[in-house]
Amino acid sequence: MDKTMTICFTNNKGGSGKSTTCSNVGAAMAMAGKKVLLVDGDMQLNLSLSFFSEDEVLKMAAGEKNLYYAIGKQQDLTDFIVPTVYPNLDLIPSSTLMSSIEYELFTKWQREFILRKCLQKIKDSGVYDYILIDAPPTLGGWVMNILCASDRVIIPVEASPWGMFGLANMFDFLNDVKQITPELSVMGVVLTKVDTRKNYFKQTMETFKEMPDIHLFDTFIRVDSSIEWSQDSSAPVVEFKKSSRSAGEYMELAREVMEYGSR
Ligand SMILES: Nc1ncnc2c1ncn2[C@@H]1O[C@H](COP(=O)(O)OP(=O)(O)O)[C@@H](O)[C@H]1O
Ligand SMILES: [Mg+2]
Repeated sequence: MDKTMTICFTNNKGGSGKSTTCSNVGAAMAMAGKKVLLVDGDMQLNLSLSFFSEDEVLKMAAGEKNLYYAIGKQQDLTDFIVPTVYPNLDLIPSSTLMSSIEYELFTKWQREFILRKCLQKIKDSGVYDYILIDAPPTLGGWVMNILCASDRVIIPVEASPWGMFGLANMFDFLNDVKQITPELSVMGVVLTKVDTRKNYFKQTMETFKEMPDIHLFDTFIRVDSSIEWSQDSSAPVVEFKKSSRSAGEYMELAREVMEYGSR
């Protein structure tokens, strides 16, 4: 394994907590002294909005300093890195134009590996301990690119019937992707927006116990309004309100990811 581990957060179900988990695990790793690069792979710009104001994000999205521009020109992503206000934590912002990325990629040679190639120099430099990529809620050529650029996948899942329903599709897709990038491994599933009082949550835990091939992180993230307040202030909750329940849970999840990932 290279010094830099690339982990993506994917699930084709929208609203499952991908961007929230990516931003907070990244910020928690940076607080623990790891050097982290976040890559916003979604046209909804939610990862970028976790660290910058709307005005700043829209400005980066409209200009040339974003992932869409770099991928279109197949450029080394080093020049697209923007520092956040937090130590050890940098970001490559996204653009709303990412909505047409599938079309852009269609005619390209080895189109599944473009993101991997654009990230290669950053990875080879060993500057970062972790590169974390936030994926959009789709399963197509662009998510394939994200997976082909990653060593590990984390799947945030909302503990709800439809959250569980979508998981089967996700695993079928991952098995297809593994045929072109066999080194890719699923690190695990993390349950988000959990309400421990609900019986459905208990049932979800039982369901995972019956699926020993899928690693479920011990830490789960409960519903917490601090998360929305932190996002309203363009900050990850682990920085915005360190005393909140979700900040503690995300710090613990990041510790688990760092420990489990090193295996
Ligand atoms: N633990 C949580 N408690 C409360 N709200 C949450 C929690 N996690 C995520 N959310 C909210 O749920 C919505 C979807 O989360 P998000 O991270 O954007 O999911 P995705 O990236 O998978 O679409 C967002 O509005 C976010 O603020
Ligand atoms: Mg998202």
